[in-house]
Amino acid sequence: MSSSDSGFASGTLQSILWERPTLHVLDQLVLPMEKKYIKVETVQDTFDVIRNMNVRGAPLIAIVAALGLASHLVVFANENSGNDGSFDKVLDFSITGIKKLRLSRPTAVNLFEAMDILEQLVESLKLDLNQSDKSEQEKVEAFVNEFVAKCEWMKDRDIADNLSMGNLGSEYLISKHYKTNADQSGKFSVLTHCNTGSLATAGYGTALGIIRSCYKANLGLDHVYCTETRPYNQGSRLTAFELDHDKIPYTLITDSMKTAPIKAIIVGADRVCANGDVANKIGTFQLSLIANHYGIDFIIAAPTTTIDLSLPSGSHIPIESRSSSEILTASGTLIENDSSSNRNNEKTPQRVSVAVAPDSFNVWNPAFDVTPAKYITAIVTETCVFLKDPATGEFDLSSCKK
Ligand code: MRU
Repeated sequence: MSSSDSGFASGTLQSILWERPTLHVLDQLVLPMEKKYIKVETVQDTFDVIRNMNVRGAPLIAIVAALGLASHLVVFANENSGNDGSFDKVLDFSITGIKKLRLSRPTAVNLFEAMDILEQLVESLKLDLNQSDKSEQEKVEAFVNEFVAKCEWMKDRDIADNLSMGNLGSEYLISKHYKTNADQSGKFSVLTHCNTGSLATAGYGTALGIIRSCYKANLGLDHVYCTETRPYNQGSRLTAFELDHDKIPYTLITDSMKTAPIKAIIVGADRVCANGDVANKIGTFQLSLIANHYGIDFIIAAPTTTIDLSLPSGSHIPIESRSSSEILTASGTLIENDSSSNRNNEKTPQRVSVAVAPDSFNVWNPAFDVTPAKYITAIVTETCVFLKDPATGEFDLSSCKK
């Protein structure tokens, strides 16, 4: 794994740079003070950048897992080209990589959806190519091409889904005709939690994508409140950065909220169950309670790749527990420090952690919580906006998988 800061020149926020077969990921641990890309070369690198949260966000985790594996597969196949049994080796390599990457983070179901697709592809290509009259070398080449193409398709699918979700979600928000209490001007604000933008996806974003589309439509949404999102600060480091980048008026707040100007809370999801219960960043559940208390809409934005119809309800979702150090220390960037000067005596930002409590203190650090469907107003996907059946008060998501 190596890093560079050369890739951030285009002016658009790109969570990944993929140039077949090379993958760079934007290091989200040092944003927004530093914009640095990490080259991901191996399955182990891929596992590490996901586990250590250099990349994060449900859709992006899946895409980095797929492309990281594809990238290493190309190199592995070249190294083994011409060897006896190279096709079997490449098949084994793929399955072992898929198994390892499944262990990187447990809650976002997008990762498992992507790994399932790749595993099925490996099985079907194994059958088809073994029945063909291709040489060993041709089988390897055909396999690698199909595998890489499928990973690229997942990346493109994510961007297309987000754009479509952005349109549908924006139309839905605008159809609500929110008005401010004060002046009935038709202007309204929304609140969002964690980071669900370009940085959490292959591009554009889910909840933040809807906010982008709605703001662009210029039909009322004029301000966004974003929570800092304890303990990892995805809100202050990443969402405020994205809103600032896009020049969308925003205010960064703590994980509490000022209800008065906010007409809807809109967040992403890591897993949506068959009954509409949603796992998302810790703190989401509390916001749903506040929204319900004040009669504010609570909207989930999630591509259908985040819907897990195999789980009947939220109690079945595996919730990731993370290290106590994320709570016992605060991390930030030190700029005005002589020790951070480089050879030309220029200041370079340095990421530092400071203790906020002794490391002997007891900690429980679940990364996600579950919001019950009863507190959710709508679930926006790339195909439709799911609302509750007025008769039963329940979501029916069964039609979401094409
Ligand atoms: O721990 P993270 O940063 O991966 O958690 C991310 C979230 O909870 C997002 O809200 C969710 O993945 C939706 S991203 C489009």
